[in-house]
Amino acid sequence: MDFFDVVNARRSVRRFLPDPVDRADLERIVAAGVEAPSGCNLQLRQYVIVDDSALVERIRPMSKALAGAPAIIVVLVEPTGTKYGEFWVQDASAAIENMLLAAVALGYGSCWVEGQVRPREDDLRKLLGVPEALRVWSLMPVGKPAETPPRPPKPAPGEITHHNAFGRR
Ligand SMILES: Cc1cc2nc3c(=O)[nH]c(=O)nc-3n(C[C@H](O)[C@H](O)[C@H](O)COP(=O)(O)O)c2cc1C
Repeated sequence: MDFFDVVNARRSVRRFLPDPVDRADLERIVAAGVEAPSGCNLQLRQYVIVDDSALVERIRPMSKALAGAPAIIVVLVEPTGTKYGEFWVQDASAAIENMLLAAVALGYGSCWVEGQVRPREDDLRKLLGVPEALRVWSLMPVGKPAETPPRPPKPAPGEITHHNAFGRR
């Protein structure tokens, strides 16, 4: 797919068909995350690919956005600052967006699930054996979409873009 077709086709998919996802595809998606920029190149991210169906079933109830998902990528991040400031949230975010787009390019749906991770972070940590030094930051379901979500309202680029000075269109 053309890059801009991928960008425009991406939607938050929250319902999935049960078809399993190839481990190689999940690894390609993670590899796209690895390629994302990283503040001071500290590379603070790690990933847990969960494709064991019994384990997936234990995670699914944590968010409605995981309904039927055959696989889940769990994003871990080490909350370490740099001499310029804290960039680890941005590091995780850059990787997640790369992975969401990679999933679309490979024909899968996904969703950035973070709001519902915070209250379940300790449960996920225990379930996956994640060390205390890492935050369990986001989940990404991956699977063939069982829905085609409509594009939600977004501003037209021209409404929020300024040329050389604020307010200058
Ligand atoms: C930081 C962040 C956290 C999010 N957390 C959740 C979540 O916990 N559950 C969920 O269903 N969607 C979550 N989303 C997805 C947004 O709801 C979604 O991106 C938004 O509604 C726009 O829709 P679109 O992704 O189809 O463009 C999250 C998105 C971001 C960027």
